[in-house]
Amino acid sequence: MEKVIGFSQCTSEEPWRVNQNNEMQAAARRHPELKLEIAHGENQNDKQIADVGALVMKGVNVLIVSPREAGPLTGPVDKAFDLGIPVIVLDRKVRGKKFTSFIGASNWDIGRAAGQYLAETLKPPAKIWEIEGVLGATATKDRHGGFREALAEHQGLEVVYEQIGDFLRLPAKQKMENALRAFPKIDAVFAHNDEMAIGAFLAAKALGREKQMVIVGIDGQGEAVKMVRAGELAATFIYPNGASEAIETSVKILKGETVPKEITLETTRITRDEHMEYKGF
Ligand code: AHR
Repeated sequence: MEKVIGFSQCTSEEPWRVNQNNEMQAAARRHPELKLEIAHGENQNDKQIADVGALVMKGVNVLIVSPREAGPLTGPVDKAFDLGIPVIVLDRKVRGKKFTSFIGASNWDIGRAAGQYLAETLKPPAKIWEIEGVLGATATKDRHGGFREALAEHQGLEVVYEQIGDFLRLPAKQKMENALRAFPKIDAVFAHNDEMAIGAFLAAKALGREKQMVIVGIDGQGEAVKMVRAGELAATFIYPNGASEAIETSVKILKGETVPKEITLETTRITRDEHMEYKGF
């Protein structure tokens, strides 16, 4: 009897998300007894809420959710869980504990590692710009929190400008253009993902200021890794998407096995000469 896994994906508009979808489809294909259905939230809370409801109505055997924002998706996830549907929360979190298992890397630790890297790299006093992800996403909150916690442990590292970039390249590029006009001196940019780090780089390069600053991203995206190797970006951090772990955990749940409440995935820093074997996605 075929088992249906429903995956509510918050958005498929960026490379990291496209890669997550592809890896989940590949993992599901390794289990002929499974049918994977991916519902695309189109980066809209209301669409994703409707998708979760539709997957529940369809009677999926396991629900996987990567929530765009924690607040709006907590109710729908709670409801599915209360109906007895096993729920795996993936990458970003919801509020509370009404789910079977959470799978994801520690965004707080990644934010801290980015802050620590800048502390080791910059000469104080240094002016830093932080370009943040989707407001309300736990990845944004935790990357920001870890980053600022690390910076506070050092002197002379000042975040002079912060903006929301929604994890998207164009908004980040446009906001970097504003930052460059507002600040004659920016020593570093911390972008919550590689798409935004690349956007910031392109804006700086257009003004011939890219060499004046250290730009750090997150994800380990192939294009960004190439730019790190070329010295255009300073660093990125591999952010594992947990897709195959989510499928394997679903298989265990369907077999009636107990699964961990939280599965923490590891991250790795990539700089110009670190982990040369890593090429990204
Ligand atoms: O929640 C993780 C973030 O979501 C990734 O870093 C980003 O690329 C994606 O949109």
